[in-house]
Amino acid sequence: MPKIVIIYGTGSLNTELMAKAVQEGAAAEGIDTVLKNVNDADKTDVLGADGIVIGSPNYNHAMMPTVNKFLNEIAGFDLSGKLGLSFGSYGWSFEATDEINRILTSCGLEMIKDLCIKRMPGEEELELCRRVGSLLACKVIKASSINTR
Ligand SMILES: Cc1cc2nc3c(=O)[nH]c(=O)nc-3n(C[C@H](O)[C@H](O)[C@H](O)COP(=O)(O)O)c2cc1C
Repeated sequence: MPKIVIIYGTGSLNTELMAKAVQEGAAAEGIDTVLKNVNDADKTDVLGADGIVIGSPNYNHAMMPTVNKFLNEIAGFDLSGKLGLSFGSYGWSFEATDEINRILTSCGLEMIKDLCIKRMPGEEELELCRRVGSLLACKVIKASSINTR
């Protein structure tokens, strides 16, 4: 079964709420999902996944250092053929998702979207996160069925 891995950093848990909602949306499509705080993640987690979702809030016009460190560890991997999504909570700027996109694109991932929510997601924003998770899962399922034909 195709798999999506969701790895995120968070300071005050807003991005964690987003991560859980993305997972809910993806899992509802019947796909395998793995959700990890970046502190518990290993660089090899991305290798067995068909969809790679990386999240970080913006702090001081940058992504969290823990997420940056993780991305530096996977920056040499060839992830072509996989689909990607960046996400994160922000207050006024978008450096974190911009930089996640740049690094993952350089690994060969096809990024489907940025998912940015201002501050704490409410029910409407969480529903958006679920929908984006569902969209990614559908694309991953479609791509893996084409690849195994
Ligand atoms: C010290 C500090 C620095 C911040 N710097 C930025 C920033 O540069 N750009 C921005 O958009 N938001 C900034 N924020 C707002 C956070 O991105 C926002 O509160 C976000 O919801 C935090 O997500 P989290 O709960 O997942 O940690 C900052 C917040 C704090 C407390």
